[in-house]
Amino acid sequence: MTERILAIESSCDETAAAVYTTEHGLMSSVLFSQTELHARFGGVIPEVASRSHIQKINGIVQEALDQAHMSLDDLTTIAVTSKPGLPGSLLVGLCFAKSLAFVKKTKLIGIDHLEGHVYSAHIENNIPFPYICLTASGGHTSLYFVEDFGTFTLIGTTRDDAAGEAFDKVAKLVHLPYPGGPVIEKLAKEAQFVDFFNYPRLKDKNLDFSFSGLKTAVLYDLVKRDAYNLQEKRFLQPDNLELKKQVSSSILVCMGDIFEQRLALALKTYPQSKALVFVGGVACNAYLKNRLATLAQRTKKQFFTPSPRYCTDNAGMIAFVAHYKAQQDKFSDLTLDIRQSR
Ligand code: KG4
Ligand code: ZN
Repeated sequence: MTERILAIESSCDETAAAVYTTEHGLMSSVLFSQTELHARFGGVIPEVASRSHIQKINGIVQEALDQAHMSLDDLTTIAVTSKPGLPGSLLVGLCFAKSLAFVKKTKLIGIDHLEGHVYSAHIENNIPFPYICLTASGGHTSLYFVEDFGTFTLIGTTRDDAAGEAFDKVAKLVHLPYPGGPVIEKLAKEAQFVDFFNYPRLKDKNLDFSFSGLKTAVLYDLVKRDAYNLQEKRFLQPDNLELKKQVSSSILVCMGDIFEQRLALALKTYPQSKALVFVGGVACNAYLKNRLATLAQRTKKQFFTPSPRYCTDNAGMIAFVAHYKAQQDKFSDLTLDIRQSR
């Protein structure tokens, strides 16, 4: 059936909306990012996030409809991220979406945020199935074997911190601003991606990740260099830009090695994979993209990654997943809750 879908995403610190139609694909994708609101706290504050979603959601939805030259009356389906995420943030989008669906008598679909990330590279590309997908963001780091639209298996995940979280925590250690990923990439480039400090790589040979030890290794390495006081929990060389560059460059190369090793193993374990796909906020990183593109080339796989606007949280990816779910007749009803699965 021909669908005209409005999708809403509010799982963390972006208020986003998008319109997707069967005829024209993605027609609009707009968002308000709360990054600046949280920057001075060095991380996302849930209460600040949900309050901001409430302030912004109406305007963002209207903007998405305007850009698509549509009104609420044109819609067949409202889609919304229903899990996982910050409960207070998810609830804002969910209540908004359910109210619209009830009043406008449209269909409703709850979407898993992680499924959104997994298929985000399809918005701009034709990707052959099956493939291996690495999702790396501030909240998640997971490997999937993806066989079709809606058919994907988790084959590895982080046992503790996410990759983006590791960047954010290391940045905080050496007094770099939040979020850490972009600034670490900038400084690492200035240091020409040299591995100065040789932080530990993952020793075990499986498809899971672990990054909390890496953060601790950086901390103790700083202590060793008289750059951090453990008792006072204080970085002692806040004006030492060279050191910040060396830490940034070393952690990024280390992350590149870890990603490359895990993905090489995944491709070996699933040799039928035709492509390697890199998604999530961390996939904005040009150095990591290059490392994985090189691995794909070496192993004769195609490589795909979304434009940065579809790597970080957005509603375009939620709308894309909602569209194939609608084609598969997988709708939700008004009892949809933030704990519910697909
Ligand atoms: O996907 P996302 O916007 O939100 C979550 O779902 O978490 O990802 C945000 C994360 C942050 O941890 C941020 O540091 C990281 O993505 N990130 C990057 C870059 N840009 C954002 N990490 C490495 N390099 C980047 N250029
Ligand atoms: Zn996300």
